[in-house]
Amino acid sequence: MDYMKQLYDLAEHSRNMAYAPYSGFKVGAAVKSRSGKLYAGCNVENISYPCGTCAEAGAIAAMVAGGDTVLAEILIIADTADILPCGNCLQKIAEFGTPDTLVHSADLKGNIKTYKLADLLPHNFNAKEVKHA
Ligand code: THU
Repeated sequence: MDYMKQLYDLAEHSRNMAYAPYSGFKVGAAVKSRSGKLYAGCNVENISYPCGTCAEAGAIAAMVAGGDTVLAEILIIADTADILPCGNCLQKIAEFGTPDTLVHSADLKGNIKTYKLADLLPHNFNAKEVKHA
């Protein structure tokens, strides 16, 4: 199976697990790290709304817990034509990605649009003063 199908299937499976009783909007995400390993996440909402987390955040947390810190590609899937990461998640993707990191936006019919991170977030917070030593 080619890796795009794997990424899609993983994100779709994760979306089915989403906990979104408040918005009713389920989102899945799957990440491919530079090492080639795949990780998935879904949105997890909370009755205290700001405590909820996005699918991308879950997938990135799984990637880091899996020992990978270089994000090559991420696929996001929802029941909408053009799901794109929120601003907060773009910053999270930027932490582990590069301007060339691919962001795939998928719907439930199998349509996929691909962007580069640099197109979605041309500038981001990256002050060298706060970089670790
Ligand atoms: N959400 C994501 O998980 N990822 C996105 O890229 C956009 C929004 C979630 C957050 C919330 O649980 C629901 O979708 C509606 O905003």
